Amino acid sequence: METLKSYVQEHKNRFINELIELLKIPSVSADTAYHQHIITTANAVKASLEKAGCDFVEICETPGNPIVYGEKTIDPTLPTVLVYGHYDVQPADPIELWTSPPFEPVIKKTEIHPEGAIFARGSCDDKGQMYMHVKALEYMIQSNTLPCNVKFMIEGEEEIGSNSLAWFVERNQEKLKNDVILISDTGMISNQQPSITTGLRGLSYVEVEVTGPNRDLHSGLYGGAVANPINVLSKMIASLHDENNHVTIPGFYDKVEELSVEERAEMAKAPFNLENYKKSLDLNDIYGEKGYVTNERNSIRPTLDVNGIWGGYTGEGAKTVIASQAFAKISMRLVPNQDWEEITELFTQHFINIAPAGVKVKVKPHHGGQGYVTPTDSIGYKAANKAYTETFGVPAIPVRSGGSIPIVALFEKELKSKTILMGFGLDSDAIHSPNEHFGIFNYLKGIETIPLFYKYFVEMSK
Ligand code: BES
Ligand code: MN
Ligand code: MN
Repeated sequence: METLKSYVQEHKNRFINELIELLKIPSVSADTAYHQHIITTANAVKASLEKAGCDFVEICETPGNPIVYGEKTIDPTLPTVLVYGHYDVQPADPIELWTSPPFEPVIKKTEIHPEGAIFARGSCDDKGQMYMHVKALEYMIQSNTLPCNVKFMIEGEEEIGSNSLAWFVERNQEKLKNDVILISDTGMISNQQPSITTGLRGLSYVEVEVTGPNRDLHSGLYGGAVANPINVLSKMIASLHDENNHVTIPGFYDKVEELSVEERAEMAKAPFNLENYKKSLDLNDIYGEKGYVTNERNSIRPTLDVNGIWGGYTGEGAKTVIASQAFAKISMRLVPNQDWEEITELFTQHFINIAPAGVKVKVKPHHGGQGYVTPTDSIGYKAANKAYTETFGVPAIPVRSGGSIPIVALFEKELKSKTILMGFGLDSDAIHSPNEHFGIFNYLKGIETIPLFYKYFVEMSK
């Protein structure tokens, strides 16, 4: 497919500029103040699919943010690929840590991306990766090489739990029928070593509230005589891990899938340099659950992390006060076989149990989802591997990721099909962080690799 390479080269400036336009729209799903931008982005995605050559595109209303659905049918007897992605993005804050404004995309060179990377919120997660599929479709239609049918389903609530997508999938099983689901919303090891994500972690996300006295108190007049909700919350949180960094919630590990020695040895083959890892994060040492190495701690092991904690006085200077309340947002990353609703329940019970007398505790579940693992002997995996091998010159390595895309487990349940996670981002691309970026190399490689997946998937399905 020499024409594929030359097509990408010939049109790369337009591909980059089109993505930049999409990145300018701040489609933050977590904050309703951005709702109008969500709608504008959905419309822009719709227009891009029409332009690429879909013969039917629609905006599907849901109880929440709209879903963009498109399709191109060339022959109903041929296989159908369903592409999923999300057009919503994480909030940009802390905004002051961005070296250029999050919704004014610029191309800058970095050590890892000598050819330049697009800096903007959503560049990698997931507008840039989603848009590779739109451009790959454009190529296949222009060059008359689309070998099968394709459906697109691009949602606007991934970063807040995909509630409306679950609603939509449950109601549209027939419409969404497919032979394989293709997603680019994960990463790969490096630009020299592609990998295919074979696992995602599940998630349980909760918010906790600790209430002490009915009002903020003078910390001299009352200090030492009443429970301080911030002190108590800190102590409760600290007790959620033991000295080996195991989570202490009773039953938390009961259903965790233990990997065999062979499987762990296989995992250890993936290239990983601990010194570079520490250096890239300015850390003098790593930290984590005893008995597991870094690549296991962040993929096959469940975890518990505080994502935010607040209460009391945090303004300038000192205010002597005992706050009436303290809060925290806590996430638990789960592994296959752990049920997120069960874990949420275990957490809730435990958190209430460990609260000392003198405070009241509330646990509010936010959202969650199940983990996912996919076999490496499926046609989809093999086709993806063949595609990467061709464009990168080396086979892809299977890697279980620590991130979550909860809807993937639901796809399998409702649509009965496997998902192939062809990610092109890098861990260093700073998704969810200030200065998120996506390498130009990665973007163009993605556009080049995707049509080969289609080609091999259809060939191998015969
Ligand atoms: N694209 C990410 C997930 C991801 C990134 C998986 C890199 C593997 C590698 C997705 O947009 C995301 O951020 N998911 C959330 C969960 C969601 C329910 C908010 C996450 O993992 O925190
Ligand atoms: Mn994403
Ligand atoms: Mn994300």
